[in-house]
Amino acid sequence: MPAPELLVPASSTWSVRSEPIADVLADLDPTDLVLAVPVPRDGLASGEAVAASLQVVGLDVAEVQAAHEPSSEPGATTRIALVPGDRAARTVLLVGVGDADPAALRAAGAAVGRAARGCSHVVVAFPGLAPRGQSALVEGIALGGYSSPRWLGADAKPTTPPVAEVTLVGDHDDDVRRSALARARATMLARNLAVVPSNTKNPAWMAAQARTIGRRAGLGVKVWTDRDLKAQGFGGLLAVGSGSATPPRLVELTHTPEGATADTLHVVLVGKGITFDTGGLDIKPAEGMLAMKTDMSGSAVVLAVLAACAELDVPVRVTGLLALAENAVSGSSYRPSDVITMYGGRTVEIGNTDAEGRIVMADALAYADAHLGPDVLLDIATLTGAARVALGRSMAPVYANDEALTEALVAAGQATGELLWPFPLVEDYRFALDSVVADINHIAGTPVGAGSITAALFLREFVGERRWAHLDIAGVGRSDVDRGLFTKGGTGFGARLLLTWLEEMA
Ligand code: BES
Ligand code: MN
Ligand code: ZN
Repeated sequence: MPAPELLVPASSTWSVRSEPIADVLADLDPTDLVLAVPVPRDGLASGEAVAASLQVVGLDVAEVQAAHEPSSEPGATTRIALVPGDRAARTVLLVGVGDADPAALRAAGAAVGRAARGCSHVVVAFPGLAPRGQSALVEGIALGGYSSPRWLGADAKPTTPPVAEVTLVGDHDDDVRRSALARARATMLARNLAVVPSNTKNPAWMAAQARTIGRRAGLGVKVWTDRDLKAQGFGGLLAVGSGSATPPRLVELTHTPEGATADTLHVVLVGKGITFDTGGLDIKPAEGMLAMKTDMSGSAVVLAVLAACAELDVPVRVTGLLALAENAVSGSSYRPSDVITMYGGRTVEIGNTDAEGRIVMADALAYADAHLGPDVLLDIATLTGAARVALGRSMAPVYANDEALTEALVAAGQATGELLWPFPLVEDYRFALDSVVADINHIAGTPVGAGSITAALFLREFVGERRWAHLDIAGVGRSDVDRGLFTKGGTGFGARLLLTWLEEMA
């Protein structure tokens, strides 16, 4: 049974107070209260507001600076415990903000959120922030406070709940905060779905969550069962799912903005939803397989983005396609060297059953091109180990057949800290996808290297003439460390960047 907490990530109660810090603290119970204060590049003593905050809890700024020499590195924390009962707070948290640019404030926020997990109240006194800084700080606090759910009996609850209450001191715009929280919640929803174990999370389960979420968010929802997929020739999804006891699904979610007309831009997002990737008959070794419950991260991000579109007033039509299948091993599994017929009729020679992502994605892309009439087609997938080798765990390759599209996505990534790096669609490697027995090979037959690039070249074959972009999030989709904005497990990478990109489109 899906635990309701999974779909509604645990969150804090937020408030803003613009009075002097002394008045704010005078009203609050100090027992379990954390007061967070920024440490700028020039040190604690460089700002009057910081001195005032410390003074309220009986600390002298010069003494604190001399005794603790707090680091100003973005996200570095120095904790000062105060005598219980005596002061207006139990703990002062000095948080490095460096030059106080949005990226630094996001890191600082994450440190605050992480340090305050499980506490009852954090008061954040970071004065004088511009809207972009406010937004970054709020996103950071929310995401740093996230911890992944644990299964205890029938319930899934955060390992440590986020701080119960967050009070922001100073000028904070309500709309800025609300939209930052909506983007953070989308990220957390994607993370929660990624963490769900694959004995629960099969394609039908994902489709059921999409129905629930879609209903709550006012989205159109359509689900293709395996019978529907057969009837309509989705040969890629069927081949990949053929070895599994839990058959594939395709889900379509639609967001229609108020007042939409035939001229309203239409963006289609396609997410890879492999609920577990054993590799299939080209089976993965144990260490490579262990993390593969998160191989549905692309579809989780697409689902979470669609769920947030209405709340964020995304002004364009958005359709999300979740390409859901389990890549399992059995007597009915598809085989290396099989030839399958994809949606739309093209034949593909299977080179390696572990390259299943591009197969399910190609079906969904071809369907979108043929039937949805998108102005922009974008896909997001934990597609290749090669992307991870190329760019590691903090940046993802972006491919596109349109320069303006690449630029807009890179800019949205910079604005949200979900960093993309443009990769080339190297024409010289295309020949490696030529097949002697089918229309196309699904992996590069002649070794040309560049596994993330050849995967992108394969996907490009299915997008027709559409403006198209592809994000390979294999490196950034999961994290092995609890650090910065990332928490261990699925990262939800892409949700905030896609929402930012969509919000600014018109
Ligand atoms: N899901 C994997 C890619 C992956 C690897 C994601 C590591 C996250 C971490 C994908 O389905 C896969 O197995 N790709 C193969 C393709 C190869 C067989 C052409 C790969 O990258 O090794
Ligand atoms: Mn695989
Ligand atoms: Zn995979």
